[in-house]
Amino acid sequence: MNFNEAKARHAELVEEIRRHDHAYYVLAQPTISDRDYDRLYHELLDLEKQFPQLLTPDSPTQRVSGQPLKEFKQVQHLQPMLSLDNTYSQEDVRDFVNRVQKLLPDEKLEWIVEPKIDGLAINLRYEHGVFTCGSTRGDGTTGDDITANLRTIRSIPARLHSGIGVSPVALLEVRGEVYLTKMGFEKLNAERQAAGEEEFANPRNAAAGSLKQLDPRNVAKRPLDIVVYGLGQVEGEPQQPQQHDQMLAWLKALGFKTPDRTWHCRSADELLAAIEALDQVRRKFAYETDGAVIKLNSFAQREIAGFTSKAPRWSIAYKYAAEQAETRLNGITVQVGRTGALTPVAELEPVFLTGSTISRATLHNEDYIREKDIRIGDTVKIEKAGEVIPAVVDVVLARRTGKEVAFRFPTQCPECGSRISRAPGIDEGDEGVVWRCLNPDCPAQVRGRLEHWCARGAMDIEGGGEVLVRQLVQTGLVSDVAGLYALTLSDVAGLERMGEKSARNFLDGVAASKQRDLWRLLFGLGILHVGAGVAKALGRGFATLDDVFAASVDQLTDCEDIGEVIAQSVVQWHGDPRNRQLIERLRKGGLNFKSALYQPKAKAGPLAGKIFVLTGTLPTLKREEATAKIEAAGGKVSSSVSKKTDYVVAGAEAGSKLDKAQKLGVKIIDERELLRLCGA
Ligand code: IVH
Repeated sequence: MNFNEAKARHAELVEEIRRHDHAYYVLAQPTISDRDYDRLYHELLDLEKQFPQLLTPDSPTQRVSGQPLKEFKQVQHLQPMLSLDNTYSQEDVRDFVNRVQKLLPDEKLEWIVEPKIDGLAINLRYEHGVFTCGSTRGDGTTGDDITANLRTIRSIPARLHSGIGVSPVALLEVRGEVYLTKMGFEKLNAERQAAGEEEFANPRNAAAGSLKQLDPRNVAKRPLDIVVYGLGQVEGEPQQPQQHDQMLAWLKALGFKTPDRTWHCRSADELLAAIEALDQVRRKFAYETDGAVIKLNSFAQREIAGFTSKAPRWSIAYKYAAEQAETRLNGITVQVGRTGALTPVAELEPVFLTGSTISRATLHNEDYIREKDIRIGDTVKIEKAGEVIPAVVDVVLARRTGKEVAFRFPTQCPECGSRISRAPGIDEGDEGVVWRCLNPDCPAQVRGRLEHWCARGAMDIEGGGEVLVRQLVQTGLVSDVAGLYALTLSDVAGLERMGEKSARNFLDGVAASKQRDLWRLLFGLGILHVGAGVAKALGRGFATLDDVFAASVDQLTDCEDIGEVIAQSVVQWHGDPRNRQLIERLRKGGLNFKSALYQPKAKAGPLAGKIFVLTGTLPTLKREEATAKIEAAGGKVSSSVSKKTDYVVAGAEAGSKLDKAQKLGVKIIDERELLRLCGA
């Protein structure tokens, strides 16, 4: 076979395999036997081995490929990814409809109701029809680049289907929900239980955990799937859909899986009927649903209704009541968390509830147990309310026998015997209901801090889970997070039930964590009010850890998204000499204190303070290059056009941003003019 013949055959095979994948994974209507499919697939593999020039990232053979990553890169969404306001009652739905009608007086409103899928929001970017980048929602503006992981999901087209002779849209962002099927979730948990690994609390956590795997080969083993329900940025498509139903049809034609069922409604009554109808069928879907999403159908009307800072005004999520189960309360234990909080935990007769078996549930605090008069031996109602941890919500008094025993809350720390206190105000919304252990060296607190440091969302140290951390603390090898960096192989391998290989893996993970970005370290320290989102905000505002701790409360609040309470907490944390010592030991341990997210404030330069928006394809510069040039000259690049925009840089096939710029009278320039302004 010569190259040209190979090229033609390659194109044929790719097209054919893609058709079969779509039939199997999106339409659930297989069109070929497994054997014949494998034959085509292997022919393609052989061809690509023989002619490596033919191999492109969107080939069906490249679904699982690439090296494990050290860390996910961050990507900026071209349009922010917002969330939805929630409602729980019929009254709320009526209020919502009235509210939107007030924003659009005299307009006839048409609504779409679709299932609210309990998964993870993601963004898929297609450039000229090819899948180039997929990311998590993150903080709504920037997310993790999980392209390689998303490629393993067969219902995500690697290349958009387009009609013959129709050129694919220049830029398309598609929004959807990645989920683990209910069946896949149960299977995965059964496997994890058998392997002695911690089970996932719900399919959403399992999906999130799967997508955060750094090795795509592990992701490919998880039965992940996707449903798409929205668009982000679209450029170079003259016939864009104008309504949600048209958009879903378009996305379906492009090769995506869209929601199982949708309903059209014209009034609040019709909406409530649709919500009820969805509730009747939703348990049959392959994915877990926790509500109904109501959306205005017309995009023009959406534009008028607009957005709040967090969510669209034209959409709302109706949440179904959480499912409950009844079971016997066998006992109550008290757990001590990393902040010293004592949490009473219900030990339950195991019971099955929405996809998993529950044997423990939170009882919140002492007052809660007293107010509900919950006694050991009672039959209790438990509920999974969207939260990870199930809760005891009530006692079934009718089942009381008189043999139940009241619970006496401990008067000292059950872990270390130290004094406990209910002083208010330690935590947000904590009016003194939480008992806390006052001993910072309490082994439970030490373990909690170490587990938090090792957690996936923080320093991400593989193997640093409950079991190992308990051993490390018990044997006295480690008493704080800096201690991890002094561990030797013989220390770890010497622990009970620890092989040399696992020990080595864990220490490799510890060593790798030295390079983590600053925000992970900040989050890992467990400073009050510094969650992952706040840690990232600090990482954007400060170049190094030392800069963060050198800043005053005022300087900290100058940083975007950092308020007074957070700033106080950071300053207070660093005021403690023990914490300052810890930082010095981490420095000696060789940890990275620099922030890759750092965005210096508007620099001096010819474009200082100017805001740019890019649209369309520029003649010579790539989007990233243009952005770099603007930023180097002191300017900022924003993803959407507003009154604050100074310049829109328009290239070929510019989209709706150009229209908006014209409407708002924003100055429109081309690449040449941009280069001139940059002083190039
Ligand atoms: S639309 C700007 N539609 O729910 C509106 N979201 O609570 C964007 N979700 O972040 C969301 N099913 O992760 C939309 N049919 C659906 C959905 C859905 C699930 C998730 C999504 C979103 C969250 C908001």
